[in-house]
Amino acid sequence: MITKLDHVAIAVPDIAAAVERFRDHLGLHLQAQEDVEQFQTSTAFFPVSGTRIELVHPMDGKGPIARYLDRKGGGLHHICFETDDIESDMELLKARGYRFLSDGPSPGAHGARVAFLHPKDTDGVLIELAEHPRP
Ligand code: CO
Repeated sequence: MITKLDHVAIAVPDIAAAVERFRDHLGLHLQAQEDVEQFQTSTAFFPVSGTRIELVHPMDGKGPIARYLDRKGGGLHHICFETDDIESDMELLKARGYRFLSDGPSPGAHGARVAFLHPKDTDGVLIELAEHPRP
């Protein structure tokens, strides 16, 4: 089941400039930067009031974020809900007619397992589900 809003992700054409903006200009704390091979994406996370802002940028100029930036030049990319059981939530949502971009969970940032709902089934909003590793 969904337990909270994990993060809101923004696609950025220049991740160094965007990190500077969120950390130095807006004064948020930079929690971590990580490259996620599976999605060819460089990420930076900024916790704020129980959730996080995630900056996403194409790792090597390719992949889904590169295509998004080509079309839109940057902007709100997805929202992510934390779940305590990603398999059971995927099964439930599939039974309710939702499609996912992958058959099962994929490895995401910080050891999470993630899956994306098809935006055609969610009014054009890309929704990620993430289950974090138990501490
Ligand atoms: Co995300």
